[in-house]
Amino acid sequence: MTDDEIKASAEYFGSVAWTPWIRVVETATVPKTRLAGGMFIPLDGPDTEPIDGRIIEVPEHPDRTDLRDPRSGFVAYVPVGSVKKGETIVNAGIPGRIQACTVCHATDLKGLGPVPGIAGRSPSYQARRCTT
Ligand code: HEC
Repeated sequence: MTDDEIKASAEYFGSVAWTPWIRVVETATVPKTRLAGGMFIPLDGPDTEPIDGRIIEVPEHPDRTDLRDPRSGFVAYVPVGSVKKGETIVNAGIPGRIQACTVCHATDLKGLGPVPGIAGRSPSYQARRCTT
C-alpha cells in the first residue's frame, strides 16, 4: 500500500462508530452448553447449571454467528458481583498484588502511547490475557 492508501484506510476504519459486541450478564446459573468451533453453544432446551466461578461466553444467535454475521454479538455470563469487583481492580488494583489497570491503559482504558486499549474487549479474553 502507498502512504496515501494507508492513511485513507486508517481514516475510514477510524470513522466507523464503535458498537457494543458483548453483553455482560451477572448470574448464578448459565445455560448448559456444548463446545463447537472453539465456542460455547447453548444446548436447545431450558437446562441450566451453576456458573461456578466461570465466564461463559455464548453467541446471541448461534445460527448467525455460524454464518459470521458481523452484527450478531455475544453474551458473557459472569458470576454475580464481577462487574463491581472488576471496576475496583481497574481503578484501584489489589494492594500488594495487582496494579490498577488505568495506570498503564489510561483512565478511559482506550490505551496510552504504545500500551493498547482494553475497553470493550471480551471478558474471557481479558481473563486469559491479563498477566498483571
Ligand atoms: C504496568 C503497566 C500495565 C498494567 C498495570 C496493566 N497492563 Fe495490561 N498491558 C500492558 C502492556 C504494556 C500491554 C501490551 C504488551 C503486551 O501485549 O504484552 C498490555 C496488554 C494487555 C492486554 C492485551 C491487549 C491486546 O491488545 O491484546 C490486556 C487484555 C490487558 N493488558 C489487560 C490488563 C488488565 C485487565 C489490567 C489490570 C488488572 C492491566 N492490563 C494492567 C501494561 C499494563
